[in-house]
Amino acid sequence: MQDRVTRTMVDFAQMKTFAEDPLVLTSGDGIRVTDVEGRTFIDGLSGTFCAALGHGNARVADAGAAQLHRLAMAAPTMATNDRALELIDVVLGLLPADRYSVVKLFSGGSEATENAMKIARQYHKQTGHATKYKILSHYRAYHGGTGNAVAAGGWPGWRAPYEPVAGGFVHLHTPDPYRTPFEAAPEASPEAVGRSYLRLVEETIEMEGPSTIAALITEPVLMSAGVVVPPASYLPGLRELCDRHGILLIFDEIITAFGRLGSMFAAEQFATWPDILCLGKGMSGGYAPLSAVVMTPEVAGAFWGDPHDLVQFHSGHTYGANPVACAIGVAAIAEITERRLDENAARQGDRLVVGLRRAQDRHPAIGDVRGRGLLVGVELVRDRATRERFPADVEVGIRVRAEARRRGLLLRASHWMFVMAPPLTISDAETDEVLGILDESLDAALAGLEEGARVAADPGYVG
Ligand SMILES: Cc1ncc(COP(=O)(O)O)c(C=O)c1O
Repeated sequence: MQDRVTRTMVDFAQMKTFAEDPLVLTSGDGIRVTDVEGRTFIDGLSGTFCAALGHGNARVADAGAAQLHRLAMAAPTMATNDRALELIDVVLGLLPADRYSVVKLFSGGSEATENAMKIARQYHKQTGHATKYKILSHYRAYHGGTGNAVAAGGWPGWRAPYEPVAGGFVHLHTPDPYRTPFEAAPEASPEAVGRSYLRLVEETIEMEGPSTIAALITEPVLMSAGVVVPPASYLPGLRELCDRHGILLIFDEIITAFGRLGSMFAAEQFATWPDILCLGKGMSGGYAPLSAVVMTPEVAGAFWGDPHDLVQFHSGHTYGANPVACAIGVAAIAEITERRLDENAARQGDRLVVGLRRAQDRHPAIGDVRGRGLLVGVELVRDRATRERFPADVEVGIRVRAEARRRGLLLRASHWMFVMAPPLTISDAETDEVLGILDESLDAALAGLEEGARVAADPGYVG
């Protein structure tokens, strides 16, 4: 198996390390997946934030199979299909009445964010503001792996290998309430912190020139930034700044929509609705490649004209609005809404957070537990009072992930934190099982760290 996996490349992973203990999955059932060796793991990340319904959902599988027999492809350049129209009705029906009017379907999150940014630029060109082209986004954000999406991304490590990236992208400070650049931060109220971040955004807009800025793209809760939940005033403040300066607000809800945060859309929780909404992942429960860009009538209206106006959207993707993916999307969303999985996500997310905060008594390295619904991040620190991090090369988060995997739980991790996002179907008992594994994994990872830390602190140690 080791030899065979070196013939592929797993996303973001160093293949030399991956090949030493590869994970080759073969089947799934509920919240669990099984690999070729017969090892079973709790899918603590829902694939990558998509398997909202868990694995082996018969209703969704049957919907896909039936559509494969009916019509598997409808050319997106000259036709749409009945399943796509049905899915669009469902999506618009979940959103506030009359706020959005047009949905363009794609086959992945990056296609959605990439095209949302293109739509924003084209919108301004077609509404008399041709100088508006810049895109604002946050440092530490991730919006996908394609050209504009990488340029909007904010982690240097994910951009540098592909530079020079597209021009016209400007980065904002991450609205992180746990680690702010402001002096009085630990004591400042969240509202004051939110206002300070907003002042920085306002200054950036003024210095860049509002007449050059097309859009601001953000996740409402910024997963790759470290499951950052911005202060309550931040997103409404962005909405106000965008309105004042004629900037389109784009929400990347690829991860956060369809129940993940305990509501159908994160926008609901922050009472802030964007001009353009990007959806993906949970939209199909991970059963098919599917994503969407949802537009207000104002945005969509700029693309409606006569043939000689040439105002149509001049782009597309072969698998956009694929009928099989759309049939699966309709079934997956029905499962989420009929079974009220958003409510279960809120309940189980609370259970997870309460359990992890209790575990802080036993594990001083748990600095912060944060998130919404079933998107929960744990930031690990060497000193909880000062929030000092472990040195990056200690890779504390990666160690926790490795220990959790040994105990049958898959997580996401970086050197300073780990993230959980199990299927929205998870039960009380399963959430408690996750907490138990995390408790043991933290013990094991941090015990190993004690030794590592002593070695690092010993200047006489060689090799
Ligand atoms: C917030 C966010 N936006 C966009 C994407 C890109 O989605 P995809 O990997 O489906 O292209 C991701 C992927 O993880 C994401 O987390």
